[in-house]
Amino acid sequence: MSLADRVRHPAFLQHVMSAEAAAALIPSGANVGMSGFTGAGYPKAVPQAIATRAKAEHAAGKPYKINVWTGASTAPELDGALAAADALGQRLPFNTDPTCRAKINAGEIDFIDMHLSHVAQHAWFGFLGPMHVAVIEVLGVTADGLLIPSTAVGNNKTWLEVADQVILEVNTKTSARMEGMHDIYYGTAIPPRRVPINMTHADDRIGQPYLRVDPAKVIAVVETHQGDRDNVFATPDENSNKIASYIIDFLAHEMKMGRLPKEMLPIQSGVGNVANAVLAGLLHGPFENLLGFTEVLQDGMLDLLRAGKMGKASATAISLSRSAYEDFEKNIDFYRERIILRPQEISNHPELVRRLGIIAMNSMIEADIYGNINSTHLMGTGMMNGIGGSGDFARNGYLSFFVTPSVAKHGAISCIVPMVSHVDHTEHDTQIIVTEQGLADLRGLAPRQRAQVIIDRCAHPDFRPQLQDYFDRARQQGPQHTPHILGEALSWHERFVKTGNMRPA
Ligand code: COA
Repeated sequence: MSLADRVRHPAFLQHVMSAEAAAALIPSGANVGMSGFTGAGYPKAVPQAIATRAKAEHAAGKPYKINVWTGASTAPELDGALAAADALGQRLPFNTDPTCRAKINAGEIDFIDMHLSHVAQHAWFGFLGPMHVAVIEVLGVTADGLLIPSTAVGNNKTWLEVADQVILEVNTKTSARMEGMHDIYYGTAIPPRRVPINMTHADDRIGQPYLRVDPAKVIAVVETHQGDRDNVFATPDENSNKIASYIIDFLAHEMKMGRLPKEMLPIQSGVGNVANAVLAGLLHGPFENLLGFTEVLQDGMLDLLRAGKMGKASATAISLSRSAYEDFEKNIDFYRERIILRPQEISNHPELVRRLGIIAMNSMIEADIYGNINSTHLMGTGMMNGIGGSGDFARNGYLSFFVTPSVAKHGAISCIVPMVSHVDHTEHDTQIIVTEQGLADLRGLAPRQRAQVIIDRCAHPDFRPQLQDYFDRARQQGPQHTPHILGEALSWHERFVKTGNMRPA
């Protein structure tokens, strides 16, 4: 399909130009909203052209940096290219690109790590400043001037509304037969005019299949003919499979005890190997007619849909490996009936997560003995990726799991520590912690009870005596609600930074 087949409204065809010409329209210092969520639906040509422009400007001794706001992470063509060209001033709300991460941690990029459900409303509230330009990937423009969204909806609805000017990247490679899969909700307002979101089931459609844009704002239309990055995951390892099996046994037990309804509750699954292992476990597990209410739909959920184990899945993006994408495209009519892609302010909405009773499963970097969770920082100071949607789901879910292998860096780091080096989710948001050692159910437990269960069930045997010793000595200091030896609580991290190992020499 050519660009003319995809863009069926003449007003938009007047603005067709090269990526370089479009990049020339974005001045240094601009706040730029881009599409893209977990390596899906990001613009491909314009960001690379901006990177080329930035290098040329720098070579001529001129400054050139822009501030980039997206849905979530993108790909080398966006974050990688812009970071390598020193073209990023500020970046929000999430990043997984290694080049961009290195510059964030070197203090060269101002990274703002945000709950993904907050981003759109903060833009609306004016908290982030004006948005000068939006660069949005779409799959086409209808004869009525409506935009067919791409593989990720993310914050595109908001960016198209709040931006002064809009550049559209029309992707002629990704199948336009996705048309009809999206559900764009236009009912959000800002306080005090907000109304309840009328969704009572994870598979309710509450919006329309298209994004709207004021044609007068469109300053460029650029063609891209390139698919999303290949979002491959390693086959789940032994630890991931163990964690998955504990979770599945736990859910079956909860159902038996009557604490989880027989029809199950909708599932949110974070990204990564453990998440994939849980989804693979569900494929062979006892549950039927599952529903997904998550932010990213990955290969594992596609497998569940194909196998008929999951009836419908709601997300904001589909982020697939190349082979899963081929299956998706081949069977797109089947998937269109079963997949709903929504704006991230809806896919991650705390009101909906609470009402629908989502089962939230997210990976973490470390947990402490009281259940505080660090999802973002390595040794308390280095940014990994960001909090993403984990907080949207963890605090509001019906059940909230946090998972990690019990050790990292070949056993030199314990992922269960006396005190986390950075807090993303407090003990109040954490119900169940799972490592390959076991599962700690913290519901209804007070801090000292939680600590003992976490040490017994989740710590690696190499670190368990060390944790028990810390907890025992902390308790001996005298009566405390949450016993700690403050001068020692972070000494494990300090030791790793100095010696490369958390164990005492
Ligand atoms: N201390 C220091 N480093 C640690 C660590 C710890 N306790 N635990 C893991 N690491 C290191 C690993 O060694 C690895 O480093 P490397 O890249 O140098 O090898 C890195 O952190 C990532 O660990 P890995 O086990 O590969 O992570 P993962 O792919 O399972 O992802 C998170 C785990 C927490 C980074 C990831 O899930 C995340 O970004 N979460 C926050 C966002 C989120 O939850 N989104 C979900 C909503 S969809």
